[in-house]
Amino acid sequence: MKNKLIDILAENIEELSREDIELSLEIPKKSNMGDYAFPCFRLAKVFRKAPNIIAQDIKAKIDEKEYPIFEKVENVGGYINFFMAQEEYARNLVNTISQENFGGSDEGEGKTICIDYSSPNVAKNFHVGHLRTTIIGNSIYKIYNKLGYHVERINHLGDWGTQFGKLIVAYKKWGSKEEVEKNGISELMKIYVKFHEEAEKDPSLEDQAREWFAKMEQGNEEALEIWRWFVDISLVEYRRIYELLGMEFDHFTGESFYRDKTQEVVEMLEDKKLLVLSDGAYIVPLDEYDMAPCLIMKKDGSSIYATRDLAAAIYRKRTYDFDKCLYVTGLEQKLHFAQVFKVLNLMGYDWSENMTHIPYGLVSMEGGKLSTRSGNVIYAEEILHESIQKIREIIEEKNPDLPNKDQVARQVGIGAILFNDLYNQRIKDVIFNWDKILNFDGETGPYVQYTYARCASIFRKVGNVEIPEKVDYNVLTDEVTMNLLKDMSRFPQVVKDASEKFEPFLISRFVVSVAQHFNKFYHDCQINVEDDNVRYARLKVVQLTMNVIKDALDLLGIECPEQM
Ligand code: ARG
Repeated sequence: MKNKLIDILAENIEELSREDIELSLEIPKKSNMGDYAFPCFRLAKVFRKAPNIIAQDIKAKIDEKEYPIFEKVENVGGYINFFMAQEEYARNLVNTISQENFGGSDEGEGKTICIDYSSPNVAKNFHVGHLRTTIIGNSIYKIYNKLGYHVERINHLGDWGTQFGKLIVAYKKWGSKEEVEKNGISELMKIYVKFHEEAEKDPSLEDQAREWFAKMEQGNEEALEIWRWFVDISLVEYRRIYELLGMEFDHFTGESFYRDKTQEVVEMLEDKKLLVLSDGAYIVPLDEYDMAPCLIMKKDGSSIYATRDLAAAIYRKRTYDFDKCLYVTGLEQKLHFAQVFKVLNLMGYDWSENMTHIPYGLVSMEGGKLSTRSGNVIYAEEILHESIQKIREIIEEKNPDLPNKDQVARQVGIGAILFNDLYNQRIKDVIFNWDKILNFDGETGPYVQYTYARCASIFRKVGNVEIPEKVDYNVLTDEVTMNLLKDMSRFPQVVKDASEKFEPFLISRFVVSVAQHFNKFYHDCQINVEDDNVRYARLKVVQLTMNVIKDALDLLGIECPEQM
């Protein structure tokens, strides 16, 4: 319908291209202003006339031709307001929303996106910060996938670096195999903390740690064996969390994967005369670009985080030939990525322009009170289980006969956390407030999931009906139904916008809005009525709503139980 309108406008305003018209077209806030409005202000220069005169002229031209898609056309001030023939409009909206892969497109066909996200640091607990990169990264993956891109999901584990030298020293001095096996990461964190306490008294521990890391870099079997064990122990915990979240990766290529690939980077930088010796360490100076230098190699010859990121970027370009390479981390790594991208650019890689850092804000508990056992850091696993547990209690209270209670509690508990994380712009801090997150009436995951379940229950009640492909569209022309249909029809534009801005919150806002419109429809329009014409038409709307909610929630990584 919108396309037809654009065609008509283009036909009658030769001075504007279709793109210009599309950009200008507005959807009025109030329905007495029509379904679409076209502002003529920008045409004033072209026509050398006042916008209201231009609106009047164009309206007269359109009136003359009597297009059947309009019920009426009005000019108000500098605007032309279009009132679409409602039955035709309803038919159009229903057909659009019924399309296969509605919301998606094939714009990404043949293109690859690498997304680097989650990437926890081995031997450290998976905290809520890592939960955010995981949730945001997963959603961006889903969004690009919906647009037809091939996406490589990369978990760049923090599994290499001098900290492992320290851990080995600590383990050898104070660790026990049984304790590590029993307590996993917590035990590793404990001996790591102890290392720092002891190293204050005895600085020689630091030297030993450096030696052990040097051994790791040189491929010493004893060192590598202990390190590998630490990685495996940590992965058990991480995989448990990914499973709870229902999320997967294509590659667990952590920093260690690039340990034999950093030498080449150093040589290339040397060849290109970018490397400068400073205090015994090698750096790439970036003061020309108002940035601190990028450290490439430490005094003792060991590589660092940035070196491995350079090697990783080059490896990814060679291996996946990406169109875009994205990195989802906290805002505190902004400088790091700016440096890495700049160095790649100085190396002559023009594809460095296609790399984007996608930062996000902090997570905190409302009122600074932590409901977690572990002190200051909020562990992801605890939060997830707490959420599931709380939902489980609500189910027990409100709907004790629900089948699959555990599964539903998981879907809703996890969904609530994901939705809360994705409800605002990434860069905004996330505040944990259980009452808000789990409120079935608020702008929350459970509210949207509940709306979906309500749709499903309508179908359970009416039994096995075969809704005909064509329904009586006239039934759907009331304002409430039309508002729901119009709202849903925004889906493709919302997905596209979310992809361009790397902002899943646009999807969350959209799906809440659809749920709200649906609930108005559900309240105002009786669905299960005698009259088949009415019943089928309205059931069709329910079905479309279910599809849209399910697909939109899927883009956020949230599942939809049929009953809750
Ligand atoms: N392990 C890092 C951290 O926890 C995040 C890694 C991000 N990815 C990268 N290629 N640097 O802060």
